Amino acid sequence: MKMILFVCLGNICRSPMAEFIFKDLVKKQGLEKKYTVSSAGTSNEEVGNDMHYGAKDKLDEKGVLYSKHKARQLRREDYNKYDYIIGMESYNIRNILRIVGEDKENKVHRLLDFTNNPRDIADPWYTGNFEATYNDIVEGCKEFLEYLSEGKNKYQKSFLA
Ligand code: 4NP
Repeated sequence: MKMILFVCLGNICRSPMAEFIFKDLVKKQGLEKKYTVSSAGTSNEEVGNDMHYGAKDKLDEKGVLYSKHKARQLRREDYNKYDYIIGMESYNIRNILRIVGEDKENKVHRLLDFTNNPRDIADPWYTGNFEATYNDIVEGCKEFLEYLSEGKNKYQKSFLA
């Protein structure tokens, strides 16, 4: 069983979208027993809040199921609990490392570094563009799952944390 934690800033837009999109992919491939998936934010700003309505609307539109969400802040102990801590952008990665400390076990990664086009995922809280964010997250989640399942050597750790 691999433990996966998606992380963004507020834990109400990108990381819960990634959590539910990844769970959907895992379910469709019958891999539920292999992965435990959750999400958290680096800030405490939205703690206790449900997913943003823009994120929910986008998941509804795409037919991705989700359950009630309660935003929580990333904790130092999460580093030991999870095998993969997946951030959305370089800024995120820096904040993650500030909370968990040094990434001694190479668990912290940026989602789109698993793709052939490594880049940040824009924050729809600011851009309002949930479609672009959804597409980026789907791309990242598919490649990440492929990497986990097949150990494909596509991954480039290109962000500068
Ligand atoms: P997220 O978006 O990191 O994708 O969940 C944000 C949500 C809330 C805030 C910032 C980003 N905020 O400042 O409260």
